[in-house]
Order: sequence, then C-alpha cells, then structure tokens
Amino acid sequence: MNDIIISGKMKMADIINHDKRALVLMPRFGIELGLGDQTVKEICTEKGIHTDFFLLMVNVFLNPNYFPDRKLKNLDVDMLLLYLDNSHKYYLEEKIPYLENLLEEFKNTVEHPATGQLEKFFRQYIEEVKDHLAYEDHTAFPYVAALSEQIKKKQVDLSGIDYNIGLFEERHDNIEEKLSDLKSLLIKYFPPSNDRYIRIRLLNELMDFEEDLINHARIEDKVLIPIVEQLEQKIS
Ligand SMILES: [Fe+2]
Repeated sequence: MNDIIISGKMKMADIINHDKRALVLMPRFGIELGLGDQTVKEICTEKGIHTDFFLLMVNVFLNPNYFPDRKLKNLDVDMLLLYLDNSHKYYLEEKIPYLENLLEEFKNTVEHPATGQLEKFFRQYIEEVKDHLAYEDHTAFPYVAALSEQIKKKQVDLSGIDYNIGLFEERHDNIEEKLSDLKSLLIKYFPPSNDRYIRIRLLNELMDFEEDLINHARIEDKVLIPIVEQLEQKIS
C-alpha cells in the first residue's frame, strides 16, 4: 500500500485511509481532522501551504522508495525548517510525555523485578532521542536558517560559522536501535500481567513513535541534506 504517489487531486481524507501514518503528519502543517471531501490542493490553498511542498513531504514521509531529487530545486528552506521544528515540538511536548504516562500506567499494573530495568531502558531511549533532537535544534537547524538568510540577502558571510551539512549527515545516526531492548523486554520477558491492554497500548505507541522517527529522519536525509548541499554549492 505504500507505493502510490499522492497527488493534489486526491481527497485529503483518502490519504489517511490509504496510510494511517499520515495522521501524525497533517498537524505538522496545521491540518486537522474534519477534512470533508476536500482535495489536497483545496486544503493546501485554504491553509496557505504550497501544494508542491506538501506533496513532496507527504510522499517522502509515506514512501521509502520515493526519490524527490528533481522536485527539490524550488523548495523553500524556511518552510522545511518550520515543518521540522513542528515535528520536534510534537515529539517533545506531546508524544514523549504521553509515552511517559503510559509507562507509569503500565508499571502500576505489574509487580515484577524487571520493572526497574524497563524504566532504565525507557529513560535511556528517551534521553537518546532528546539528545538527537537537541543537536538538530541547536546546531544543525540554526546553521541552515543562517545559510538561507545570508543567501536571501545576497551578502554571504558565514565566516563566524564553522559548520557544514556534511557534519550533520555524519552524525545523523540511527536512534531507533536503542528501542529494541525495550521492546524485547515487553514482548519476550515480562510475565502476563493483570491488564494486557496497557502493555499492548504501550508497545503500539512505542512502535508508532519508532516508525514516525524513521520517516522523519528520511525527510532530513532525502530533503534537508540535499537542499542544504545545493545552497552550500551556491556560495562556494
Ligand atoms: Fe529531526
């Protein structure tokens, strides 16, 4: 189901029916449910979102085989940074606190010596995710914003900035690996507990988060990095 290409003529609601992962993507563009039968183009126009930008992002996010190369040329970097910033805010302010609450709820349903281990794996994973996001928010994205600003002003002076997008690419590692210990503990080792649904819910939410981060990282790798490389070439 992943390989259809989303177009502007499609109904926005059909994207979600096609792939539920679009549910987390839409609020990052300020698009909320209650979509009616409006098409992608109609909703984008109404919300002031460039339709081509939305289509590029949604296709990269939902489809690992989608290569946007030729569509990157006219992409507005500031719009991309805003989207990435919205995604990070969602992780930090909504999703992680929600996962923390779920873990607490789960811990209250089980009495098992491995609960401490579970908590430890969870904390390590969340810290890793937060470090990853903080590096992007405080180092990589401000660099991209400064680069874009300088190019717009046509007075390129980045002498104070000792950074390039290659450094980001090198560091853009896989944060999902840390999650596997946590998932194994929940799937393989915890004994049956009084409330099996809370464990299923916790696992579902962790896997959903994992997938969201993978798709998010793909946008950074396939859209952000190439576009910044193009900007860097312009000024070199
Ligand atoms: Fe990110």
